[in-house]
Amino acid sequence: MPETTPRGLTGLAFGGDYNPEQWPEHMWQEDVRLMREAGVTMVSAGIFSWALLEPAPGTYDFGWLDRLLDLLHDNGIRVDLGTPTVVPPAWFYRAHPEALPVTADGVRYEFGSRGAICHSNADYRAAAANITTRLAERYGAHPALALWHVHNEYGVPVSACYCDSCAAHFRRWLATAYGTVDAVNEAWGTAFWGQRYAGFDQINPPRTTPTVGNPAQALDYKRFADATMRENFIAERDILHRLSPGVPVTTNFMTALSQCDSVDYWAWGREVDLVTNDHYLITDGRRTHVNLAMAADLTRSVAGGAPWLLLEHSTSGVNWQPRNPAKAPGQMARNSLAHVARGSEGAMFFQWRQSRRGAEKFHSAMLPHGGTDTRVWREVVELGASVDSLRPVRGTRTEADVAMVWDWHSWWAQNLQWRPSEDHDPRERADTFYEALYDRHLTVDFAHPEADLSPYPLVVVPALYLATEAAGNNLRDYVEHGGTLVVSYFSGIVDEHDAVHEGPCPGALRDVLGLTVEEFSPLLAGERVRLTGPDGGELHGDVWTEFVVPRGADPVWTYADGLTAGRPAVTRHRLGEGTAWYVSTRLGADGLDTVLGGAAEDAGIAPRTDLPRDVEVVRRTGASGTYLFAVNHTASDAKVPLDAHGTELLTGERTAGRLAVPAGAVRVVRLDG
Ligand code: GAL
Repeated sequence: MPETTPRGLTGLAFGGDYNPEQWPEHMWQEDVRLMREAGVTMVSAGIFSWALLEPAPGTYDFGWLDRLLDLLHDNGIRVDLGTPTVVPPAWFYRAHPEALPVTADGVRYEFGSRGAICHSNADYRAAAANITTRLAERYGAHPALALWHVHNEYGVPVSACYCDSCAAHFRRWLATAYGTVDAVNEAWGTAFWGQRYAGFDQINPPRTTPTVGNPAQALDYKRFADATMRENFIAERDILHRLSPGVPVTTNFMTALSQCDSVDYWAWGREVDLVTNDHYLITDGRRTHVNLAMAADLTRSVAGGAPWLLLEHSTSGVNWQPRNPAKAPGQMARNSLAHVARGSEGAMFFQWRQSRRGAEKFHSAMLPHGGTDTRVWREVVELGASVDSLRPVRGTRTEADVAMVWDWHSWWAQNLQWRPSEDHDPRERADTFYEALYDRHLTVDFAHPEADLSPYPLVVVPALYLATEAAGNNLRDYVEHGGTLVVSYFSGIVDEHDAVHEGPCPGALRDVLGLTVEEFSPLLAGERVRLTGPDGGELHGDVWTEFVVPRGADPVWTYADGLTAGRPAVTRHRLGEGTAWYVSTRLGADGLDTVLGGAAEDAGIAPRTDLPRDVEVVRRTGASGTYLFAVNHTASDAKVPLDAHGTELLTGERTAGRLAVPAGAVRVVRLDG
């Protein structure tokens, strides 16, 4: 059995992508000396090195990598070794131009960047298997090797190819999934608009069509493209398992970035030995630390609650957004340790030394252009020491209070064309629900709609447009057995083939919610409706309203204006031992907080009035003890109540009663007992 933590690492991982091929070899000594100064314990190497390792077909140059791994080993630095299959060399594309991916419009990409891969291409698959085999044979038992890092961020920058090889591969995939072409016709509803296929050979990828294409075909193509990438990951992983037994294999995910929306991480989480994630702050005006917390919670959930590893984030600004602000003093450490609070077994960065050439020369690094006399370097050294002092948390698990249901297939389906309103953005709903829970100081696990929800007193379902019958039954069982559920509008509408469930909407959820929806009534841009509720309260909704017909549920909030005036807007349904809430309009953070307050009361979750906004408190617990992480994202000093005495790991101070967390700082208390 492969291990599930980086081999030979005794503390947490601290380090970054190390791409020394950008520098003359004499600089490696300085790199390694500075790595030791910063407390680096592991680096990721070789991720983009295929052209150097195999400069011509069948000609290999491993000398430099031998020397590098030996040097790192001699200095006690562990290695996360990449298979370089995200960038085949130029000679490969000269010989196999059809391995370059093709867009839905028929444009074939060129060589000269990275990630230009048709995952169905047989020559690519053979070449990737070959270089992986060579690396595994050479380094599989190297004493520096801690972890295998397959490829890089599957799904970006290209998530699907539409070439002829993919067309043939898609047909085979459909034949396996459906058996007969008639079953495909049925599932895709090809009777509509005369799209019936008489044989698999007539089916193509969903290439550009004059107007909207078949949505079920597009949805299946997302599944096919994801499965095809996964096939290639599994092929490499199996080679590594065979030739490098015991060493864990990972590939770096990007769980919560909406730019990477084409990978079903529930499925991928089952295939890797260790879940690893890359996270970058998206500076779109929202609170970046909330998105960070969400990414970390989602990653932990994809790992089934087990510890995972943050394999990349940035020391300061990135260079691929329209505007790339530097991180504020202390923000890097706060970001790193917030990931650790939520289950990461360390904090790794892209990249070790800032590039002078190439596309990422303006991206921050651990060792900036300015060298060691820089703020970033000083903060890196300080963080290295902090990470080292947190080694006792290794192997412990983050405790969650509530769950959020999340499913990539439903997200894909919701983003297909021709929905009732383009303003409805499922990802926005997930973000906003998450933010509301975060502001209530609740730690969130994410769950697949068919997963066991019984451990959670409260489960929120922000936008589950696609819900299978099994998912509907699962949510109903959860409520009947005493759970509290909160579901947002346009959920439970279609089955796995994007076909509307039989009967009135929301087919998969009408029993548990105790209502039907007669009609959707999306609002115009900028239009808002008023809701009135208990004790004369008032809320506002936008984007979406519905004609809700209660069938067992009680109205809690009612539409006060708009087409749906007088109809229920928010309902509550007692079912079995539990309660199911439904929110039929888009509420902002305040409105959502009001509804979640009612649901939390039903779930027996007391509000935390003892913590300021943006002071995050999370616990990790396990055999070595219980650790309370307090992350202060505000500009004021804060006090966090403690229910036990303990020792603060970063300062070594004893703590009791109230824990002082200076503005912008992090404190980690190992609780006694
Ligand atoms: C990641 C990628 C790295 C680097 C980084 C820059 O997505 O894996 O190689 O490009 O972004 O932020």
